[in-house]
Amino acid sequence: MSRAHLDKRPADVAGMFDDVAERYDLTNDVLSLGQDRRWRKAVLTAVEARPGDRLLDLAAGTGTSSVPFAAAGAHVVPCDFSQGMLRVGKRARPELDFTAGDATRLPFADATFDAVTISFGLRNVVEPRRALAEMLRVTRPGGRLVVCEFSHPTWAPFRTLYVEYLMRALPPVARAVSSNPEAYVYLAESIRAWPDQRGLAAWIRRSGWRSVEWRNLSGGIVALHRATRPGCGSQGSDRPGFSQRRS
Ligand SMILES: C[S@@+](CC[C@H](N)C(=O)[O-])C[C@H]1O[C@@H](n2cnc3c(N)ncnc32)[C@H](O)[C@@H]1O
Repeated sequence: MSRAHLDKRPADVAGMFDDVAERYDLTNDVLSLGQDRRWRKAVLTAVEARPGDRLLDLAAGTGTSSVPFAAAGAHVVPCDFSQGMLRVGKRARPELDFTAGDATRLPFADATFDAVTISFGLRNVVEPRRALAEMLRVTRPGGRLVVCEFSHPTWAPFRTLYVEYLMRALPPVARAVSSNPEAYVYLAESIRAWPDQRGLAAWIRRSGWRSVEWRNLSGGIVALHRATRPGCGSQGSDRPGFSQRRS
């Protein structure tokens, strides 16, 4: 599979995740140097999932990102379009309500969910802005969006170091631990090509979301964007770390 094609074809993206599914969780832990656990805790806090909330975890893969919400008592629906990822997820976490679906054509009625979240998935969607509009459609008025995605470190010297890690260190490590190292070269390239914090906030706002705000994790390696679907007098809440960065 050529990397260039991954930019264009959803079937290739799904195929790539089918290939890495079996070792996905392990590879993630190794490549993020264990940071992914901290990031997932921050997502849980930002989503403010309450017991009984209906929550969509889009591009959920094997369901790793869905587990904290289920543990918090929310009814979480992990949704993904890679059959391989879904298969591994169902085997490892049979208690979760895995659903096959494409982020750009979600198989849910309007206003189904109290909150929608997507972790390390939006960057892989071939039409991310269409996915943001679909997420808006399936969220109830006043409901919440949280996007957790790789972003751009804010301190220039650290940014330089990080890009070095992505382009030089990550591919050999991926070769050692992943079943499809090529997928991790794609990962490095897609992170570099992804919009920065402000750019993603603008996409989210243009898709119809309001009270768009973000906070950086690990110096901006990852950013959490929060937003609210207009309606019901909804406002963004003043959560620590988010408020100064409202856009
Ligand atoms: C890096 S994994 C993230 C999995 C999980 N959210 C996590 O945090 O570990 C990205 C996922 O996005 C899914 N994906 C990419 N494009 C998609 C689309 N258009 N619709 C649904 N899922 C998609 C892939 O199949 C893959 O499972």
